[in-house]
Amino acid sequence: MKMTSWLTTFSIVMLSAFGTTWCFEWESLPEPVVYSCVGREVTFPWEFKAGDAEHIRDIRWLFDGIFDSTMMAAVTDGYFLSHAPYSQRVGQLANGGLALSDVKLADAGNYSVEVNVEVEGSLVSHRHSVLLQVGDGLMTQDGTLTASQDPVALWDSSEQQWTIRLTCGRFTFLGQPPVHVIWTTPTMETPASSGYDNGHFYLTLSSPVVGGNYTCHIPHHLLSDVCVTESNYDNPALTARVLVCEVKARMSLLEAEHRTLKADNRELRQQGQVQDDAIRNLTSENTELRQHQQVQDDDIRNLKSENMELRGELQQTLTDTLTHYTNYQLEPIRNEVHSLWNITRELERLHGQRAAQKAELRTPNITVDAPIKMTPLQQTASDYDNTTGIYTVPVSGWYSVAYQLFPRKNVWVYVDLLNNGKRVARAKCDKVEHEKEYSQTCHSSLTLHLQAGDGLWIQSNWAGPYWTAPWDSFLTIVLVTPDQ
Ligand SMILES: *[C@@H]1O[C@H](CO)[C@@H](O)[C@H](O)[C@H]1NC(C)=O
Ligand SMILES: *[C@@H]1O[C@H](CO)[C@@H](O)[C@H](O)[C@H]1NC(C)=O
Ligand SMILES: *[C@@H]1O[C@H](CO)[C@@H](O)[C@H](O)[C@H]1NC(C)=O
Ligand SMILES: *[C@@H]1O[C@H](CO)[C@@H](O)[C@H](O)[C@H]1NC(C)=O
Ligand SMILES: *[C@@H]1O[C@H](CO)[C@@H](O)[C@H](O)[C@H]1NC(C)=O
Ligand SMILES: *[C@@H]1O[C@H](CO)[C@@H](O)[C@H](O)[C@H]1NC(C)=O
Repeated sequence: MKMTSWLTTFSIVMLSAFGTTWCFEWESLPEPVVYSCVGREVTFPWEFKAGDAEHIRDIRWLFDGIFDSTMMAAVTDGYFLSHAPYSQRVGQLANGGLALSDVKLADAGNYSVEVNVEVEGSLVSHRHSVLLQVGDGLMTQDGTLTASQDPVALWDSSEQQWTIRLTCGRFTFLGQPPVHVIWTTPTMETPASSGYDNGHFYLTLSSPVVGGNYTCHIPHHLLSDVCVTESNYDNPALTARVLVCEVKARMSLLEAEHRTLKADNRELRQQGQVQDDAIRNLTSENTELRQHQQVQDDDIRNLKSENMELRGELQQTLTDTLTHYTNYQLEPIRNEVHSLWNITRELERLHGQRAAQKAELRTPNITVDAPIKMTPLQQTASDYDNTTGIYTVPVSGWYSVAYQLFPRKNVWVYVDLLNNGKRVARAKCDKVEHEKEYSQTCHSSLTLHLQAGDGLWIQSNWAGPYWTAPWDSFLTIVLVTPDQ
C-alpha cells in the first residue's frame, strides 16, 4: 500500500517535468566565425528559450573592438533600443538575434549577446560571442590569387609515395573558407584540391609529374562569397598560374626516393648482418662438432651435412631476399631514369647535334691570312659554308673548338682561330732542326662562349702545301652547353 502511493507521486512529478522548460537554453547559435563583405548585411542568429520560472530582465548586444567594448543595442522591458553609432544599422531578429547592415571593414571583431535572467530573486547572465571577419576585394593577403610549388618533395603517407605539392592562396579566412578552387593541369584536367590548410588550397602531383602550366581559380558562382564585385569577375588576377618544370620535378622526386632507398638499404644490410651472424654461429658449431668427431664419427657426419644444408638454405634465402627487394625497389627508378635519358637525348638532338661540326682540310690552295676552306666531314654540317670557309654559330652557348694544320715543309708557321674577324687563338710552330721535310703540326684547342650568328674560321700565314688527310689537318667545333 505504501509502495503504490510513492509510485503515484513520482508519476505526477515526471509528467510536469515533460510539460515545462526548467531552465535557460540556446536554441540556435551562429558559427564561431562569421564572414561578410563590405556594404552587405550580416546576421547573428542567436535564439534562446527561457524556463517558466525565469524572468528575462534584459538582452544586450556588445561589440568588442580592439580597445574597448561598446553596447550596440539592448532590449529592456520588451523595448528594443539601439545606441549610437549603430542606431541606423542594427535590428533585432527572433529574440537574441541581431542584424547589422552596411558592414564596414572596421566592424571586424567580436560580437556578443548577453541575456540577463532573474531566477528566484537572483540574477544569472548568459553570454555568447562570435568573431566577424569582413572582406573587401578578394579575401587573400594581397588581393590577388597566387600559386606556387613547394621547393622539396613531400611524402604522402596515405598513398605511400613522394609527391610534388602546389599551393593556391593565400586566403585570409580565419576558419575553413566557404569556397573552393578549381585546378587546371597542362593536360586540361580539373582535379579537386587535395586539401586546405592555413590559407592555402593544395594540389599534390605524383609520379610521373607532367610539366607545364597549372592554374587555379575560384568558380564564378562563388566569387561573391570572397567579396569580389561583379565588375571584377573577369580580372586576370583571379586566376593564378605556376609553371612546373618536368625535369626538375621528376628529379626532386627521384632524389627523395633515392634517400628513402638508401635508408631502406641500410636497414636491409643490418638484417643481413644478423643472418651472417647466424651462419657464423652455425659454422662455429660445426667446428665444435668436428672436434667430437673421434667420439661419435657417424652421427657427427650426419649433423655436419645437415648444418651444411642449413647454411646453404640461409645463404639462398638471403640472396633471394636481396635480389627480389632490390629489383622491386629499383624498377620505378630505372623507368624514371630511362625517361630522363630520353628527354636529355631529345634536348641534345634539338640543340647539340645540330652544332657538332667537323671539317677536314682538302683544298691545298690556301690564301694567306684569309679563311681556310675545309671540306665538311658530316652530312649535318649545314652551318659550315665550304665556299667561304666560315662556320656560322647556330645557337648561343659554350663551344669546344680544336684545330690542326700539318705543313708539308719544314717551315715556321702560325695558325689563328678568328671569331667575327677577331683573333681568339694562335698556334705557333717552329722549324724543326736537322729536318728537311716535316715541320711540327700546328694545333690548338679551347672552350669559348659564342653567340648565335658568330662567324668562326681558321687562317694561316703560310700558303702551304699542307698534309690533307683528316687526321693531319682538321677543324672540330662542338656545342657543349646551349644557353637556356
Ligand atoms: C575575440 O575573442 C577571442 C576569444 O575570446 C580573442 O582571442 C580575440 O582576440 C578577440 N578578438 C578581438 C578583435 O577582440
Ligand atoms: C605558361 O604560361 C605562360 C604565360 O601564359 C606562357 O608564356 C608559357 O609559354 C606557358 N608555358 C607552357 C609550357 O605552356
Ligand atoms: C650468435 O652467437 C652469439 C654468441 O653465442 C649470440 O650472442 C648471437 O645472438 C648469435 N646470433 C644469432 C643470429 O643466433
Ligand atoms: C625511351 O625511348 C625508347 C626509344 O624511343 C622507348 O622504347 C622507351 O619506351 C622510352 N622510355 C621511356 C621511359 O619513355
Ligand atoms: C690558287 O688560287 C689562286 C688565287 O685565287 C689562283 O690564281 C690559282 O689558279 C689557284 N690555283 C689552283 C691550283 O687552284
Ligand atoms: C662544298 O659542298 C658541296 C655540298 O656538300 C659539295 O658539292 C662541294 O663539292 C663542296 N665544295 C668543296 C670545295 O669542298
